[in-house]
Amino acid sequence: MNEFVAILDFGGQYKQLIARRVRECNVYCEILPYTTSLEALTARNPKGIILTGGPNSVYDPASPTYDKKLFELGIPVLGICYGSQLMAYKLGGDVKTAPTSEYGHTNVVIDAPDSAIFSDVSGETQTWMSHTDYIAAVPEGFRISAHTANCPVAAMENPEKKLYATQFHPEVSHTKEGTKMIRHFVMDVCGCAGDWEMAAFAETTIKELREKIGDKHVILGLSGGVDSSVAAALLSRAIGKQLHCVFVDHGLMRKDEGDEVEAIFGPKGNFDLNFIRVDAKERFFMQLMGESDPESKRKVIGAVFPQVFGDEAKKVKGIVKYIAQGTIYPDVVESGDGKTSDVIKSHHNVGGLPIELVRELGFDEKPIEPLRMLFKDEVRKVGLELGIPEELVMRQPFPGPGLGVRIIGEITPAKVKIVQEADYIFRDELARAGVDKDLGQYFAALSNMRSVGVMGDHRTYGLAVVLRAVLTSDFMTAEAAEIPWPVLQKCMNRIINEVPGVNRVLYDITSKPPGTIELE
Ligand code: XMP
Repeated sequence: MNEFVAILDFGGQYKQLIARRVRECNVYCEILPYTTSLEALTARNPKGIILTGGPNSVYDPASPTYDKKLFELGIPVLGICYGSQLMAYKLGGDVKTAPTSEYGHTNVVIDAPDSAIFSDVSGETQTWMSHTDYIAAVPEGFRISAHTANCPVAAMENPEKKLYATQFHPEVSHTKEGTKMIRHFVMDVCGCAGDWEMAAFAETTIKELREKIGDKHVILGLSGGVDSSVAAALLSRAIGKQLHCVFVDHGLMRKDEGDEVEAIFGPKGNFDLNFIRVDAKERFFMQLMGESDPESKRKVIGAVFPQVFGDEAKKVKGIVKYIAQGTIYPDVVESGDGKTSDVIKSHHNVGGLPIELVRELGFDEKPIEPLRMLFKDEVRKVGLELGIPEELVMRQPFPGPGLGVRIIGEITPAKVKIVQEADYIFRDELARAGVDKDLGQYFAALSNMRSVGVMGDHRTYGLAVVLRAVLTSDFMTAEAAEIPWPVLQKCMNRIINEVPGVNRVLYDITSKPPGTIELE
């Protein structure tokens, strides 16, 4: 049984970050809704419990709350922001609207340098605050362990009872020494050993999958992306040829990508499974003909995919029992933490197949999701453990509709070819120059612009390729990367010389917002 830390969610926007920080200590944790009963919580045998922030006021009767017995279990608790106020309120302290609410970077003075969570933390340290209420008086048995100019209780604790609380957010990177504080709580206060390793995860999961699946067969839509590839690798190790991977080649992949996926997962690859590559290029191009609106193109691609996948699924009717899916933890958390949203989602689509078809074919309606509890970097580690090549495991995100969202206007095979070649050159040159490592995403796209140029003695009238490279950590915001000029010049030269039909190369310097990362 793994060491386990529970994160009780009171509606905090940074809950995923708390989970990340705990996992960085190699300790397994999960975000649980605040409605989880005390019995259900203790049944999980947590080594520690973290209460998240949230937008409410503890003294509002409609606010999320928790049984006071939580603080009497002898299990260490760390309350953050709303969580800290809840701890104070429940234990008889005083929580009020602060005369001055604090938002943003705030310097905190540590009053208890001997506190277990502030060990090695500077006497005055920068934190991130976001609150309108504050703890005006600490409960009996507690001491104030930090304060700010406007907040008398920036942190409090009762070390005998192993209860700790911070008004600020140690989980966000703006809190300079926050990672250290969470590590102290998890390792020193909760006494975790930090032995949760991805190799052990893979081993346990393979065993569990084997037990669950038995001698039944499983179908998986393999896109060649990181998540479905790692899911395929785990399942292959668990059940070998009982796994049927369907790789739908929609013709909108990057250059040679379909062959690369086949080289890894096909009959000559490293994995024991049934690999079915469906060449659906014609089908996609036919349906996309005449479509030039970005949303319509996405819709067509999104509609043809389940048809093609469905046709393959029909061929294994009576053989396959389960559908697998590469869902990862951020997908689970994003879709709402309750079970209801999961149910709603899976009632439309299970692992890429329409629910009606799933029922018709007699497949189980509940997908097998072996990566459901992992963050992306953990998925990558598992992938490497299982022997998936690093190029695939570490690669940049690629959108589901593929190059379809990188070609402005109507998609034709000729345009796809142009964008594939230009993109290949761009990636190749960035890798040669060693500037690809820090980039969030980088690719070539094809504008719909034709312009006049001259090549040798000839006048040309060709298309313009757009190069885009962005720096981003979360893909919600992004900045254009400053690619060295000589590298861009080399790309321009090569693209115009090597890719017929292109006579102009543009570099997109738009940030997000106002732009998006993709062009459509
Ligand atoms: P945007 O263009 O919205 O992209 O700034 C943000 C991130 O999402 C990816 N993206 C998609 N992924 N289907 C996908 O699976 C899509 O339709 C899609 N559109 C954008 C994009 O590559 C970037 O990582």
